[in-house]
Amino acid sequence: MQEAKYPMNEPAHAADTAISAPAERREALPATPEALLEAVLAANRRTTNPRLRQILDALLRHLHAFAVEVDLGYQELEVGLDFLVRIGKATGPEKHEGILLADILGLATLVGLIDAKQALAAGGTEPALIGPFWRAAQPLRENGAHIAEQGTPGERLLVVGRILSLDGKPIANARVETWQASPGGLYENQDPHQEEMNLRGRFQTDHDGRFSFHSVRPSGYAVPVDGPCGELLDAQQRAIMRPAHLHFIVMAEGYKTLATQIFDADDPNAYRDVVFGAVGSLLHRFERQPDDSFRLDLNLKLEPGTMRVPMCPLP
Ligand code: BEZ
Ligand code: FE
Repeated sequence: MQEAKYPMNEPAHAADTAISAPAERREALPATPEALLEAVLAANRRTTNPRLRQILDALLRHLHAFAVEVDLGYQELEVGLDFLVRIGKATGPEKHEGILLADILGLATLVGLIDAKQALAAGGTEPALIGPFWRAAQPLRENGAHIAEQGTPGERLLVVGRILSLDGKPIANARVETWQASPGGLYENQDPHQEEMNLRGRFQTDHDGRFSFHSVRPSGYAVPVDGPCGELLDAQQRAIMRPAHLHFIVMAEGYKTLATQIFDADDPNAYRDVVFGAVGSLLHRFERQPDDSFRLDLNLKLEPGTMRVPMCPLP
């Protein structure tokens, strides 16, 4: 019986020799959480991809410790699994509920900080989450163009930016993606009253690392609460607002891709962002000009490394 449960003569896996797996168990599993975890970890030891093995190992240890800590009941496990299924079902071409979940849990912000720790130590720009509203086919526009279609209400805003290396050298030909919500607090794809691709654009920096565009001052907005993430926020009795911000993703050959956001420091929600993205140095003042328009000046600093096009949540 035990031979059948823990067969020793399974076909050898290609990586077995390299990993030198420990001897297989030959006794019945003791019915304790500790023995179970040991067995579950042993079952992961032949995962050939070392990074996947490391991630799964830590995930299994933390997952088991979590279940033990909260004394998880089977019915609660069912609720959790159903929640995950519904996150998947609520995700489609219009909305990525999975990204929203990572955002409201603070996980996206944490991963961004982990990813950027060397850049941050060297004075690079702080990252911020991409969120669920970046679109893949944002229109390429000339520097100085308007990203707000005619008729978009709101206070006028000029954004003047420069893309720099950590030591302050301009980066030419960088690709700068930007998108923002309207003063009504909706992204164009959520709002039938806005033109397709309104308040979105892709720019290329000039020889001096500069880009610029005209827009309108964004306003804050509530994150979408019509799906399972909304239920979770409701159960936690959390505020659901994001402070006004503009998104940027900057990509340049020889540099790590930077995803960030610039927040309006005058928005009271800058200090209670539901997705924890409004960190430290990303709060800026939009400067009022003599003609009552606003201006935002930015320097975004990239870390040397490999450029990567991030996963885009929307077509
Ligand atoms: C956003 O910044 O676009 C965003 C981030 C998280 C949730 C919803 C929206
Ligand atoms: Fe946003």
